[in-house]
Amino acid sequence: MDDQTNFASVQTLAAQGVGSHEPVTKAVIPPIHMSATFLRDPDNGYPSGYVYGRTDNASAQQAESVIAGLEGADEALLFSSGMAAATCIFLALERPTHIIASQVMYWGFRSWLREIARYGHTVSFVETSDLNAVRRAVRPRQAGLFWIETPSNPLWTVTDIAALAEIAHANNAILCVDSTVATPILTRPLSLGADIVMHSATKYLNGHSDIIAGALAAARNTALWQRIRQTRGQLGSALGGFEAWLLMRGMRTLGLRVRHQSLTAAMLAARLVEHPEVSTVLYPGLETHAGHAVALRQMAGGFGGMLSIRIRGGDAAAIAVAAAVTLWKRATSFGGIESLIEHRASIEGEGSPCPGDLLRLSVGLEDPDDLYVDLHRALAAAA
Ligand SMILES: Cc1ncc(COP(=O)(O)O)c(C=O)c1O
Repeated sequence: MDDQTNFASVQTLAAQGVGSHEPVTKAVIPPIHMSATFLRDPDNGYPSGYVYGRTDNASAQQAESVIAGLEGADEALLFSSGMAAATCIFLALERPTHIIASQVMYWGFRSWLREIARYGHTVSFVETSDLNAVRRAVRPRQAGLFWIETPSNPLWTVTDIAALAEIAHANNAILCVDSTVATPILTRPLSLGADIVMHSATKYLNGHSDIIAGALAAARNTALWQRIRQTRGQLGSALGGFEAWLLMRGMRTLGLRVRHQSLTAAMLAARLVEHPEVSTVLYPGLETHAGHAVALRQMAGGFGGMLSIRIRGGDAAAIAVAAAVTLWKRATSFGGIESLIEHRASIEGEGSPCPGDLLRLSVGLEDPDDLYVDLHRALAAAA
């Protein structure tokens, strides 16, 4: 990986919020900008450059500059959710575009992509960790977009970003990476050749489970990127000032949180592999994981705070384990300070590649031993 992935520089950028301060009071922590509208000068101009809150907000712009810095991007844009960010790309695309998307990915976005025909595009779902399968799915004479999530929900399949970028660019397609799970602390997709990075900022970027937000960061300010910006303004899907301010605050500790969560997840994965009630541990940091070699190449300094376990006793036993924990919270979402457990098949519904005996674990900032003991007790109780 290149030296842009240096942890120290990414963490410095995050901790200092790109070093901005408020120019009038000299406050180190920036204020929250909440105004919906802005004053015009008597000469009819807008001296501040701000016109109306639907298109731009100064607090959001500060957070956007932090994200652009973290991802090594030309520009970043914030949205009212991860879904608003992801869908905005497809609404801004030239029609028809052929989309090649990972088979294993966040189920909510997969459901939306399944119906992409209503927006004038076509989609092929492919096992994107299989490069030949990706090559076979390309339609060279059509505009193309590759959509990958790595590591991907909830099996933590790893896709080789650099290899996909090469295939995409050789075929006139662009590569978009949902990097919500890896975060810029562990992987910087743009430095590996991706064109656009997407985050559900609801998760690790904010890290405190108290906002819904999404982000896009672009390698270059292209015509598509300008259409994405315009579409966000037209739809009114930008992030509000208060949420952006909370996100700024959350991102200051991103490096510490992700590093710690990765260490705890690796420790839990290693111990759970030995557990008699667990048939499989899915974690890219394990040598037994199919994506481990690629993860070693493209994830620097850890493999993330997400893992899944499959329960030997089957579907009902998995639900019983989730019912028996006391420290882990039974809830959806991930990337927050509190550890969450979820029987994923219950939420993903029909057509999901998620096995019924799988529990998804989002590791928080609690003591690693406490987390293991709670899981161990629940596994024993459900046996
Ligand atoms: C990997 C991933 N991408 C995107 C999303 C959508 O983000 P949001 O819930 O912020 O709309 C989620 C939500 O769970 C997710 O897990």
